[in-house]
Amino acid sequence: MKDGGESKEQQLTVALRIRPINEAELGEGATIIAHKVDEQMVVLMDPMEDPDDVLRANRSREKSYMFDVAFDYTATQDTVYRLTTKGLIEGVISGYNATVFAYGPTGCGKTYTMLGTDWEPGIYIRTLNDLFKAIEETSDDMEYEVLMSYMEIYNEMIRDLLNPSLGYLDLREDSKGVIQVAGITEVSTINAKEIMQLLMKGNKQRTQEPTAANKTSSRSHAILQVTVRQKSRVKNITQEVRVGRLFMIDLAGSERASQTQNRGQRMKEGAHINRSLLALGNCINALSERGGNKYVNYRDSKLTRLLKDSLGGNSRTVMIAHISPASTSFEESRNTLTYADRAKNIKTRVKRNLLNVSYHIAQYTSIISDLRKEIQRLKEKIDEQGLKQLRSEKSDIRNIQGDCL
Ligand SMILES: Nc1ncnc2c1ncn2[C@@H]1O[C@H](COP(=O)(O)OP(=O)(O)OP(=O)(O)O)[C@@H](O)[C@H]1O
Ligand SMILES: [Mg+2]
Repeated sequence: MKDGGESKEQQLTVALRIRPINEAELGEGATIIAHKVDEQMVVLMDPMEDPDDVLRANRSREKSYMFDVAFDYTATQDTVYRLTTKGLIEGVISGYNATVFAYGPTGCGKTYTMLGTDWEPGIYIRTLNDLFKAIEETSDDMEYEVLMSYMEIYNEMIRDLLNPSLGYLDLREDSKGVIQVAGITEVSTINAKEIMQLLMKGNKQRTQEPTAANKTSSRSHAILQVTVRQKSRVKNITQEVRVGRLFMIDLAGSERASQTQNRGQRMKEGAHINRSLLALGNCINALSERGGNKYVNYRDSKLTRLLKDSLGGNSRTVMIAHISPASTSFEESRNTLTYADRAKNIKTRVKRNLLNVSYHIAQYTSIISDLRKEIQRLKEKIDEQGLKQLRSEKSDIRNIQGDCL
């Protein structure tokens, strides 16, 4: 891949979503302690705090946090999508990489935000819909190829969710240093309904299991990857192809085994999930360090290897952190807020991915015939315009003649 010219430094965008309180939490007597204060600020109150206890007041663990954007139970799926992800699309179709990932404790709404439901579709489908719309709007001048793959990382192994019978897949680095999943199914489709069906089907293949905290808890990290190749319709002997890669990631929950009452197999999974999440946390810590010269160990897990570019390289990246508003989740919420707060310091360097394709001599005849057609089309257009102009000039002369008589 050729260097796409100037690279621009960009800060990670961090959004925070507080989901609505649920029946189970209310049943436990939980109160709401996480509030959105304004479009960017969130405050987490200490549930142990007694407002009348003056002595403890200055030891308060109440804390406010600023993010690029904050959402609470009033935010619709569309609002969350528009304010976090929609802005990435134009870049992706013209050769820039982008990543959106959902982070947070189990049961806090990551899958809801990314996949959503049939009635309240999430970021995956909204993004793909708009992506295809944007492609259609520019398809007079540009030609596109869109490829989509959907995979999960479960127990540090990669499975193809569109074709699970392929077994476990490996990560490979191609000659340009881009990490690829070897042998993954890539589908090209531009029908939104078809895609939603594929995703829903893929999601059924995803390893999920009820835990005490979430009855449809994702036990794996799910990754939807969309690759868009754009080239000009006007052919040339060498042609520039722009390649944009978009990752949309629904992580497994960061959780404590005690909270989910996991035992046996589930407990082992937790350790693996946490290996990837721990590695992600370590990378985020190292990357957010001021000065940025701390060693970043991407090789510690599959997730961080795959996300190398998204975190420290060439990608516009958005993190959507999720929390519950309930007093019973205070510790998880505080950890997540601290983590997300740290991620704000991460910077990536964004540049366009350009690929130069040289056509083989055997293809020249087809290029020449395409160019001839294009010349013919333009000639006809000129003739048509010339004729129109002549007509309007003639009518002007007639007017003048009329005036003279
Ligand atoms: N903003 C929201 N509005 C309405 N319902 C929500 C919202 N967020 C989450 N929920 C509901 O809460 C439950 C748990 O959400 P979800 O499965 O998305 O959590 P998760 O973060 O993916 O958890 P896990 O890490 O265990 O996979 C689901 O039933 C989901 O529909
Ligand atoms: Mg989930």
